[in-house]
Amino acid sequence: MSYVIRSVRADEWAAARELRLLALRDPIAHLAFLETYEEALAKPDSFWRERTAGVAADVEGAQQVIAEGPDGEWVGTLTVLLEEAGTKDWAGLPVERFQGHVVGVFVRPEHRGSGLTEVLFDAGLEWAWARGVERVRLIVHEDNGRARAFYRRAGFEPSGVVVPLPSDPDARELEFVMERPEEA
Ligand SMILES: CC(C)(COP(=O)(O)OP(=O)(O)OC[C@H]1O[C@@H](n2cnc3c(N)ncnc32)[C@H](O)[C@@H]1OP(=O)(O)O)[C@@H](O)C(=O)NCCC(=O)NCCS
Repeated sequence: MSYVIRSVRADEWAAARELRLLALRDPIAHLAFLETYEEALAKPDSFWRERTAGVAADVEGAQQVIAEGPDGEWVGTLTVLLEEAGTKDWAGLPVERFQGHVVGVFVRPEHRGSGLTEVLFDAGLEWAWARGVERVRLIVHEDNGRARAFYRRAGFEPSGVVVPLPSDPDARELEFVMERPEEA
């Protein structure tokens, strides 16, 4: 199947909202995402407008990449955030190097295992390397076996860091990292 992989535009906030709400209804959404469907559903349009404008094609610090299927429907997404060395991340942990952080990874079930996820990551990583990051990281729940298997195959390795979640002290959220390749 052929896909179009591209960054979102700010005016596409309604489609971004729809795909996020679909992701939050996934059977493993409680492992994959830090917000619930009900929380997202309750957010006003202004939230989605701002959120999409903050990750759109012309933005320097973050980028949402989407895949369009043959009929133009959105079938997968991820977002890359840039994190500056010397800052603290959302969990309060220090950021030691200029890095990318991949969040919001979701592919519609009927497009999984098709190679689409690799293509989405290629685009997200290319964007991050082009901004000069030294490494790219992501956080994955210990029990999210499918995502962990994909990330390893894509070249991410566990760093050994377990990220504490104030909302769920028992959760084991593992950091996976990819160092910048020489050729990037
Ligand atoms: C995570 C996700 C993007 C991965 O994309 P994908 O297209 O499903 O990945 P792939 O099928 O290419 O690779 C997954 C691998 O896990 C394997 N797998 C499938 N189910 C599995 C399971 N329950 N436990 C362990 N491995 C599993 C697959 O066979 C495949 O193995 P391979 O690398 O040997 O081929 C997609 O599954 C998804 O959107 N999941 C729901 C949302 C989510 O979890 N997001 C990530 C949050 S961190």
